[in-house]
Amino acid sequence: MTDATSAAAAGTITIGDLTVNRLGFGSMRLTGKGVWGPPDDHDESIRVLRRAVELGVNFIDTADSYGPYVAEELIREALHPYADDVVIATKAGLLRTGPDVWVPLGNPSYLRQEVEMSLRRLGVDRIDLHQLHRIDPNFPLEDQVGELAKLQQEGKIRHIGLSEVDVDQLTAAHKVAPIVSVQNLYNLTTRTAEPLLDEAEKQGIAFIPWFPLAAGPLANTDGPLGSLASDHGASPSQLALAWLLKRSPVIVPIPGTSRVDHLEPNVAAAGIELSDEEFSAIDAATSGS
Ligand SMILES: NC(=O)c1ccc[n+]([C@@H]2O[C@H](COP(=O)([O-])OP(=O)(O)OC[C@H]3O[C@@H](n4cnc5c(N)ncnc54)[C@H](OP(=O)(O)O)[C@@H]3O)[C@@H](O)[C@H]2O)c1
Repeated sequence: MTDATSAAAAGTITIGDLTVNRLGFGSMRLTGKGVWGPPDDHDESIRVLRRAVELGVNFIDTADSYGPYVAEELIREALHPYADDVVIATKAGLLRTGPDVWVPLGNPSYLRQEVEMSLRRLGVDRIDLHQLHRIDPNFPLEDQVGELAKLQQEGKIRHIGLSEVDVDQLTAAHKVAPIVSVQNLYNLTTRTAEPLLDEAEKQGIAFIPWFPLAAGPLANTDGPLGSLASDHGASPSQLALAWLLKRSPVIVPIPGTSRVDHLEPNVAAAGIELSDEEFSAIDAATSGS
C-alpha cells in the first residue's frame, strides 16, 4: 500500500458474509472496443488491476461476457492467487455475438456451463458472488435463479446477485434463493433505479450502480460536474463517485477504467466526504441534465 488514498476510506459493506471496501472496480473497460476482444494495451490492463488492489480495492466486478472471457482472464493473470480479502463478482446470462451486441440467454444449462467456465478461467473453486446478468424472458425466472441456487448448494457459488431487475423481480428471485446484491444502471444523471435502491436499503443488500460515471461524461471537465469540481478542488469523476457513496450506505460504486492515471483519482474519491450542502448542489447541477 502507498500513502495514496485507499478505497478503505469509503468504509465497508458486508455482501452476504463478505466484507469489502465500499469503492470497487469494474473490469468491463479492460477489453477491446465494443467490449470485444483483448485491450489495446494488455500490460496497462494488468497494471490497472494490480494498482487497484494495491489501493485497497477489494471488490472487483466482471462477467463472462466482457471480451467475452477477456476480463476474467486478465483478472486471473494479474491477481491470482487472490489475496484473502479480494472478492471477485462475476456474471452470466448475456450471450455475445459481436462487438457491442448483448443477447440475454437464461437457459439454465447455459448458465451452468458459464459458471463452470468462470470457475476455470478465474482459477477458483467457488465464485464469491455470481450475478444473473439479465433475466431472460424466454425462461422462467425461477429456473434461472434456481440453477444458480443449485450451483450454490453444490458449493460452486458463494452468493447470488441480480443485474438489471425491478423490485418485483427481486422479490420473485428471493423466493427461490437468498439474493445479496443487485446491480442496475444508476448515476447522477440516470436515476430510474431509485425504487430498487430503496428496496435494497430496506433489505440491507448491496446496490451496485453500473455506469457510475455515465460511461464517461460525468468524468469530463466539460461535463455537468466540471465547474463544481474545480470549485471543490476535486475532479468531476471524484464528485460523481463521492455523491454515490453519500447517497446510500448500501451503494458500492464500481467505476471502470483502462488507465492507471484515471484509476488513481477515482479511488481517491473514497476519501471525499461531501457536506449536505455540497451533496444538494451536485444533485441540483445534474438533475435534468
Ligand atoms: N450489470 C450490467 O449490465 C453492467 C453494464 C455495464 C457495466 N457494468 C459494470 O459496471 C462497471 C462500470 O461501468 P462502465 O465501466 O461501463 O462505466 P463508468 O464507470 O461509468 O465509466 C467508464 C468510462 O469512463 C472513463 N473514465 C473512468 N474514469 C475516468 C477519469 N478519471 N477521467 C476520465 N475518464 C474516465 C473510462 O475511460 P478510460 O478507460 O479512458 O478511463 C470509461 O470509458 C463496468 O466496468 C462493469 O463492471 C455492468
